[in-house]
Order: sequence, then structure tokens, then C-alpha cells
Amino acid sequence: MTFKKRIIKKITEEEKRYETESLMKEKRSEEYEVLEEVFDKSTLMTIYDFFNRNIIADIYGVVSSGKEARIYWGKDPKGKELAIKIYLTISGEFKKGKLPYMLGDPRFANIKKDTRSLVFAWAQKEFKNLELAREANVRVPKPIEVQKNVLILEFIGENGVPAPSLKEIPPENPLEVYYQLIEYLERLYQKVELVHGDISEYNVMMWQGKPYIFDMAQAVLTAHPMADIFLRRDIENLNRYFRRLKVDVLSFEEIYKRVVGNV
Ligand SMILES: Nc1ncnc2c1ncn2[C@@H]1O[C@H](COP(=O)(O)OP(=O)(O)O)[C@@H](O)[C@H]1O
Ligand SMILES: [Mg+2]
Repeated sequence: MTFKKRIIKKITEEEKRYETESLMKEKRSEEYEVLEEVFDKSTLMTIYDFFNRNIIADIYGVVSSGKEARIYWGKDPKGKELAIKIYLTISGEFKKGKLPYMLGDPRFANIKKDTRSLVFAWAQKEFKNLELAREANVRVPKPIEVQKNVLILEFIGENGVPAPSLKEIPPENPLEVYYQLIEYLERLYQKVELVHGDISEYNVMMWQGKPYIFDMAQAVLTAHPMADIFLRRDIENLNRYFRRLKVDVLSFEEIYKRVVGNV
């Protein structure tokens, strides 16, 4: 049975309130258990809604399973590849670690503080940050839709294989990529007042010779009280990574001045 069919089947079961009985009858494959863990009823309904709205036509296997989110490979009705990022709503760790990035952001001043609401706001925040990044002409996966804990993104890569991160494959043109990333930080800061806050070799993918930054939920507006600390850390992470690739890196001060501009 395809993944999509499983999801629809599961929803149908839920709606008929036969869930427990049918689960007991269901032969448990590994895939089904993964489905169980990530797709609680609300998540299933959200995905179902994306099917009905013709935003997703199909959903295939998992591309990445992190502590906080799973990324699935999917396609839209035209066959365009999608990355479907599903934030887990059952992770108890979530609240504590994320709050500092959320509080102090005027966009999220009035959110409820229960874990589910925070996860939903977190997904919204990533969506908005990606939109801002595009506005600043920074290469990121195009955000397509967000609803509750599910984010639909342009797929960076091909045939379900994500483009390699800098961690996986160091770039062939490190100097060029280094300067491009500094330029990205500058555009984010000066054009849309955003600080990424988690720049590292894990959150940059190389695709068609160009760096794409992603995983932007934690990015904060420059008005955030911690923004400066996050920016300094980003700059240090960049230099640390590229120094190892034998790039003759700029001094911290020089990058900082470039990014922040004349303020
Ligand atoms: N838009 C995308 N296109 C292709 N692959 C993606 C996309 N977004 C994420 N991935 C894959 O999933 C992995 C984890 O994504 P990320 O957004 O960093 O989630 P996490 O919060 O779990 O770190 C990435 O390293 C990449 O391999
Ligand atoms: Mg990541």
C-alpha cells in the first residue's frame, strides 16, 4: 500500500471511530509505526487537507528524521517535488529550548504557551522567515504553504535525494561560497532585519553550485534582544568552518561591520 493510501486509510478509520480495532488487526510494518509516531490525528487531518486542496498530490518516504521534525518527500499535482516538513507535536523538549527564540519577537508576542501552540507558531515562524529571506534575495527553499505543524517547501535536490549539506560534501569553490554566505547574512540583516541564528555546515545545502540556507525557524528579527548574540555566533561558525577548508577568512570585525552596515 502506498504511503498516501495508508494516510487516507488511517483517516477513514479515524472518522469511523474504528481506530483501535483496526489497528489491532493491522499487521505492523516498520513504516506503519513511523506513521503512527509522527502522524497524530491532527497531523493526519492537516495532510489530508493538503491533499484536498491539491497542494500535495503524493507523499513518499521520509527524507530526514530529526529530534523535532521529519522531512518527507512529496509531489504536487504537476509532479513538482516537495519537501514536507512535519514538526513533532509530542516532543516535551520543545518548549524549553525554543522559547528564547520566540519571546522577544514582536511577531509572536501573543501566542499561547502550551506545547502544541508553540509548535504551530514555530512552523509559522519558519514560513515567515523563509518568505523574508526570499524577499532579501537569499537562496532558500521556497515556502509554499503552512498549516498547523506542517510546512510545504520547494524540494532542494532531485528525485527525492536532497542536495548535500556543507557537512556532507565540502564545496568545490569554498572561497566563493564563503563570500556568498557573508552576503546572505548582510542581505538578511539589512534588507529584512533578520538574523539566521543557526548558520552552520548542517544548515546550508549546495545545489547547482550555489548555497541554499534552510532550517530557519529559529531566525529572529534584529529587534530581538538576543539578535546580536546570535549574529556573532553565526559569524564565528562561518569562519570556523571555512578556516578548516583553508579559506583565508576575514576578521570577525570586518564581517560584522559588513553585515550590520552603517548603524
Ligand atoms: N526543502 C528541502 N529540500 C530538500 N531537502 C530538505 C529540505 N529541507 C530539509 N531537507 C532535508 O532534511 C534535513 C533536515 O532539515 P532541517 O530543516 O534542517 O530539519 P531539522 O530541524 O530536523 O534540522 C536537511 O539536512 C535536508 O537533508
Ligand atoms: Mg537542521
